[in-house]
Amino acid sequence: MLKFPTALSMSFLLGLMLAVSCWAELEEKPRDKRQADKLHITLLYESLCPDSRNFMHQLGPVHEELQQYMDIQLVPFGKSRSEQGGAIFHCQHGPAECEGNRVQSCVISSTANQSAQVKFVVCQMFALDSSRADQCASEAGLLTDVDHCADSETGTKLQLQAELVTKSYQPSFIPTIVYNGVFNQQLQDHSLRDFRGTVCHLLRQQNLLPSGSPLCQ
Ligand SMILES: *[C@@H]1O[C@H](CO)[C@@H](O)[C@H](O)[C@H]1NC(C)=O
Repeated sequence: MLKFPTALSMSFLLGLMLAVSCWAELEEKPRDKRQADKLHITLLYESLCPDSRNFMHQLGPVHEELQQYMDIQLVPFGKSRSEQGGAIFHCQHGPAECEGNRVQSCVISSTANQSAQVKFVVCQMFALDSSRADQCASEAGLLTDVDHCADSETGTKLQLQAELVTKSYQPSFIPTIVYNGVFNQQLQDHSLRDFRGTVCHLLRQQNLLPSGSPLCQ
């Protein structure tokens, strides 16, 4: 699926340029673009990981219920790693997982609608390969040329970006759930058992729920 440039040195240079431009982009994205009235959640996961898939059983319904109070960043990379600046990716569960991660990066980046992102990812995670990507995208209301992105440099660039975000948290377990940009082992453990309870706890703690809200009761 990855198209290798003929000369290795060329691909290395290209990768280096991509990596550099990703850093630049990450730095330019202002953190204060985040909304102050929401709980920020970063989900580090990978496409063929059973634990990640299990977590999606929680993510779907919890997001549907509490989406107005959540700002979620989905990062499909996990324990993968790039080589030669993205000319090659290695994934924990093999090449099919790399492809799944790329496809998900592409679809996620195609919309700012987080409901649609979550819908797509939950749907896609329960398909055993990436062949249902188009169907999942259209069910989430996304008209996106999945294959084109996944087969192009855009897919590579998005995965390199996902790698930077993932590595910045040095996750020891996938999925890792990070709240407000700071990893906390206790919240991580609670989230895997009871994501809704953890989110509700944090929403209350941060006074993000209006008093008398019927949510989180
Ligand atoms: C966002 O996506 C959801 C799920 O597909 C859809 O129901 C909703 O209408 C979309 N919202 C906007 C503003 O497009």
